[in-house]
Amino acid sequence: MAQIVVLYNTDFDEEQSKQTPDLTSVRDSAKAIAVALHESGHTVELTGVHGVEVYAVLERLHRARPDLLFNLCESMDNDARNEPTFAGLLDLFKIPYTGADLLALASCLHKHRTKEILTAHHVPTPAYRLLRTDADLAGLAFDRPWFVKLAHEDASLGITEANVCRTPAALAARTRELWAEFREPVLAEHYIEGREVNVTVFGWRESLEVLPLHEIDFAAMPSDRPRIVSYAAKWDESHVDYAGTKPVPVQNLAPAVAADIERVAKAAFRAVDLRDYGRVDLRVDAAGTPWVIDVNPNPDISPDAGVARAAAAAGMPYPKMVARIAELALARYRS
Ligand SMILES: Nc1ncnc2c1ncn2[C@@H]1O[C@H](COP(=O)(O)OP(=O)(O)O)[C@@H](O)[C@H]1O
Ligand SMILES: [Mg+2]
Repeated sequence: MAQIVVLYNTDFDEEQSKQTPDLTSVRDSAKAIAVALHESGHTVELTGVHGVEVYAVLERLHRARPDLLFNLCESMDNDARNEPTFAGLLDLFKIPYTGADLLALASCLHKHRTKEILTAHHVPTPAYRLLRTDADLAGLAFDRPWFVKLAHEDASLGITEANVCRTPAALAARTRELWAEFREPVLAEHYIEGREVNVTVFGWRESLEVLPLHEIDFAAMPSDRPRIVSYAAKWDESHVDYAGTKPVPVQNLAPAVAADIERVAKAAFRAVDLRDYGRVDLRVDAAGTPWVIDVNPNPDISPDAGVARAAAAAGMPYPKMVARIAELALARYRS
């Protein structure tokens, strides 16, 4: 049994609990993970880190030499760009940790970088263009709709029905709104109409395991709304999009398509060099071709999140799932 420090960021907690008090905070999630590791027989310490005091924390951990740090640090000092920084510091201080390293975390915080990596590895991902200025808006062919999203965010931030753009004017208008509100580049991608599948992958490099596939059930989505997982769908329980985007185990998926999805999800996980656990989101077009739309390193593993749901479907109770992630990380450092 191992000595494990569960470390989470505290910078967003206060702000988040003011805005959305019902949400599981990072701290609640970290507590659940600590309890799960304890139940699995590990010795556990729970530590929060806010930002600039990080050196003191690292120095202490460097001296205490835990077997593993369970890394739940998603940002520092109110800036998500410090998520990779923190992983880099852990490497500098030679503290073994769960999940992705600096490079993988940073690549996924730049969605166009992820796309370049996927494309270079021949992983199917929709055609795209990075939009930074008005000049970038010119010359997009509209033989099919485009979807726009913020280049540096996740959790569907900035995503509403207006992000599905069917005309150049609609795309320009929504893109300018996003630039103005979030002050960051926008990624335009071919909009893929079809099923949305979430794939949880455990492991590293050649040794990957795909957990039972889940998808978004859009049956309750009103027919005049696009079948996408908007910000409201993820965070506003009273919104029509919330009821219209129910995560469920996949059903009636042709075995050949399921096999393709698994192959593509593993290829995406490997291409971006995720470690231990990750989630790949895909859309499957009418021809049954899966397209990777999102690669998530260190995805949410709260008891009520998709990864835990996939693990449960694989017969892995929550404490076992959390312990498994820790074991995968420990084994990786031994290899
Ligand atoms: N190319 C696309 N075609 C269709 N829907 C998309 C596309 N890209 C994103 N979406 C929709 O937007 C949601 C959020 O986009 P995603 O790329 O997963 O970003 P995030 O990192 O915010 O989760 C997806 O779950 C999906 O419903
Ligand atoms: Mg996503």
